[in-house]
Amino acid sequence: MASKTYPAQKHVIKTFAKLVELLPAVEQNKAGQYRPQIILLAGEVTPFRNDTDREMPFRQESNFYYLSGCRVPGSYLLLAYQNGTSLANQPSSHLFIPKAELADIMWSVPPPSLAEASATHDVTRVDHPANLPDAIQELVKAFPGALVHTLPTSRLFPTIPSQYTASFLAANAHVTEDYLLTALHRARLIKDAEEIELIRRANQISSRAHETVMRVLGQGVRGMIKRGKGAGTDRPLLPSEWLIQKEAEAEALFVASCRREDAEHQAYLPIVAASTRASTLHYCCNDREFAWGPVQPNDHKNCNDLAHDHERVLDPQVLLIDAGCEWKCYASDITRTMPVGNGGKFTPEARAIYELVLEMQRLSFEALKPGLHWDAIQFICHRTLVRGFQRLGIFKTPDSPNSGSWNAEEAILASGVSSAFFPHGVGHSLGMDVHDVPSASKPEKNETIKHIEFGHESFYTYLRLRLPLEEGMVVTVEPGIYFSPHLLAPVRDSKHIDQEVLKRYESVGGVRIEDVVVITKDGYENLTTVRSDTEWVERVCSGEI
Ligand code: GLY
Ligand code: MN
Ligand code: MN
Repeated sequence: MASKTYPAQKHVIKTFAKLVELLPAVEQNKAGQYRPQIILLAGEVTPFRNDTDREMPFRQESNFYYLSGCRVPGSYLLLAYQNGTSLANQPSSHLFIPKAELADIMWSVPPPSLAEASATHDVTRVDHPANLPDAIQELVKAFPGALVHTLPTSRLFPTIPSQYTASFLAANAHVTEDYLLTALHRARLIKDAEEIELIRRANQISSRAHETVMRVLGQGVRGMIKRGKGAGTDRPLLPSEWLIQKEAEAEALFVASCRREDAEHQAYLPIVAASTRASTLHYCCNDREFAWGPVQPNDHKNCNDLAHDHERVLDPQVLLIDAGCEWKCYASDITRTMPVGNGGKFTPEARAIYELVLEMQRLSFEALKPGLHWDAIQFICHRTLVRGFQRLGIFKTPDSPNSGSWNAEEAILASGVSSAFFPHGVGHSLGMDVHDVPSASKPEKNETIKHIEFGHESFYTYLRLRLPLEEGMVVTVEPGIYFSPHLLAPVRDSKHIDQEVLKRYESVGGVRIEDVVVITKDGYENLTTVRSDTEWVERVCSGEI
């Protein structure tokens, strides 16, 4: 394998080992021998949009890429393994890539030749799909009684044409879709060094894109973005003239920055939410102007009368950007919350909330190490939020007027009221997909572990990871605090909340800070390089540096 080649064969060995572990004894052995295991996978095909005769963006199916390292549309993969034989250390890995047709060459870019594909893929053999039926026949002859695994029949995975599965059925082979996806998710949960480097690269590109947006905001504050002669009327604006004054402009710049560094895809649709829209966790419109004039606590539509005033002064507000590109099928997932208006500085209330979210993240980081249950990180975040809200006066303390022990920290935690402000999980596994390997991220019976302090069951409702950490896991750490009118409605008369103090903070909308880390032997390494400390963020967003 050439040194830069994606290590597919290592992933094949790991996946077969997980697969065999999952099998009931009767499926593992046949006639006193280890039973041969075969995997057949279809890769993604190029999607087309109706009546355009033009391809839509192609993205290889994650599991197919994991086992083949192949990003050629319309490919297939046939794998064979048998414990106790030479195939255990060197499974056969047969990749089928489409043959170049004249029409491909004329209209588009043809697939690589067999020789080119052999040189760049970590597989044992490369062929054209026309030879797949024969290859299947050969395998079933060589391995009678083999168990054949496919991914579930679902719109989530590319379909294997029936002519190929029919060859197995004609040979009386047992085809099952019960085990492969679980095995793949379990294998993919722990990343190897090559995968970590791909995730690192995605995070570096996305980190620079976040910083680019912040710096352009800062240049706008300093009046450094000027329209040259005729710009916007006689001619379009040049990138150096792009002032960011609405969500779409921030999104465009983020995506452009990733694309100019060769990232083909975003790992998910960017979330670009200004003002109180930052309280919508997966806001997806990215189509509103920044807020001009006073922001009302419940103003989600930015339709206040001053929006088009002649004296357009940006209202102090936050801009929350949760966005990350992918690099060669590996994701990043980064959130930064930045000050807009107010000369590029946070208001005192926004700064207090920002620093509290930073503290939730810092205390989470300090706890990260193999063996620690992820539920414990969720609890740390809620405890930090409760303590912080008590300091700010949003939550009462036993010493508040007309208060008592029911406002002790433990009692507030047990009430679950903090879930109205931090409703989501503190993070998730990340890898080829942004919410990676869901079936391997939670135990089948999803009970919160009992040996940590627990708080309230609502803390764990949307937690996507419910496992002890292991070296090589890649996870996001993304605490947030939100003031969503919808989530606050049920706690409006909570005895723990000082509603007058809360009102002062509601126009902050929401703050989330999200980094991607890899769990190491004794702690963690942060793969996100864009800074988030308050001083740096304010200095950049105000154009001071
Ligand atoms: N970008 C979605 C998330 O943070 O989970
Ligand atoms: Mn995330
Ligand atoms: Mn995110």
